[in-house]
Amino acid sequence: MNAPEPAAVPRVDPMPHVLNTYGRLPIALTHGRGCWVWDTDGRRYLDGLGGIAVNTLGHGHPRLVPALQDQVARMIHCSNYYEVPLQEQLAAKLCEISGLAGVFFCNSGLEANEGALKIARKYGHDRGIERPEIIVYEKAFHGRSIATLSATGNPKVQKGFEPLVGGFVRVPLNDFAAVQGVAHTNPNVVAVFLEVIQGEGGINPTRTEYLRQLRALCDERNWLLMLDEVQCGLGRTGRWFAHQWAGIRPDVMPMAKGLGSGVPIGAVVVGPRALQVLGPGNHGTTFGGNPLAMRAGVETLRIVEEERLLGNAAAVGEVLMGALKSGLAGEKGVVEVRGQGLMIGIELDRPCGVLLQRAADAGLLISVTAERVVRLLPPLILTADEARQIAALLVPLVRRFLAEPAA
Ligand SMILES: Cc1ncc(COP(=O)(O)O)c(C=O)c1O
Repeated sequence: MNAPEPAAVPRVDPMPHVLNTYGRLPIALTHGRGCWVWDTDGRRYLDGLGGIAVNTLGHGHPRLVPALQDQVARMIHCSNYYEVPLQEQLAAKLCEISGLAGVFFCNSGLEANEGALKIARKYGHDRGIERPEIIVYEKAFHGRSIATLSATGNPKVQKGFEPLVGGFVRVPLNDFAAVQGVAHTNPNVVAVFLEVIQGEGGINPTRTEYLRQLRALCDERNWLLMLDEVQCGLGRTGRWFAHQWAGIRPDVMPMAKGLGSGVPIGAVVVGPRALQVLGPGNHGTTFGGNPLAMRAGVETLRIVEEERLLGNAAAVGEVLMGALKSGLAGEKGVVEVRGQGLMIGIELDRPCGVLLQRAADAGLLISVTAERVVRLLPPLILTADEARQIAALLVPLVRRFLAEPAA
């Protein structure tokens, strides 16, 4: 893979004017092609992270780039005071691939989830429930606004930001009796809100049967089933949306990340039960639904479809999973290698944050989440050969790490 022209901005270490909210690696990425990126020193990396499940089409996609250039030249932004035909185009496509009925556009995952939470509360109020409550999950991650961090099931994300927003009831994942228990005792519940595969929580899949049980319970109780597909959606698991493997449909589906292949975008897609909940004046955003983001969404979905990237994610995901499992077979410190399609986690028996820098030193971008889980979320254009290269770089690093005396 040949490098395109590097960007003109040199590295500034350690970015003294940028608030220190991330533990950043001392690497500045400047440009990319396909599944490869380069840094300011000209070093090349295989992108096993995809900007945390964002770069659906990799970097510099030859069909996306000219489409976005064309859109930038036409119009980047216009107000939602006016009709935006590209919004309708993208909304219609999202309804077609999800089987749902309507879309609200925003700019990020947390915004999509805020929209979902507002829909749930308003849905409750419309039905005469003055203090609506929403069932949420242990180890969940829904974002870092005050409401979404309150829905998140990770005390580290919440610490220092109390008082948390109320109206959430927390249960463990995949424990249907726990949800039934809430149903029997709490008349204020209006919705169940969960990720189909928990991402930040450590690549924890929701069982198919559990999802079906939730769907049936929500129908019985007139609750909204709200599935956060921000990380696991948009083709990553080999279907458009991860819940489609269970043959069910949600009532509310927030999504973001991969929808714009890197252009910021979010969307809340709703089914018939939630379609009439929000009306004029109930919700809004200045940037949401702007023509540039909409074009990115339209082109991303078109390219995913035409280049058959759902099938690619499933097939190449199997290659990657197979190579990781066989490479790590018999390693005592490996608790489990799990996931679906191109959303894969390797759970170790100890914290492994140091692997981030070591992988980068070896020319591979990864993430470590929930302290002990190496996470891979590469672009959906990943080839089988690149999948084998990821495994060939990662497996020896993990083995070496596990052979070290515990820190
Ligand atoms: C499942 C899930 N929901 C919501 C979010 C928040 O998205 P954003 O960072 O775009 O606000 C994330 C981000 O990682 C996520 O994984």
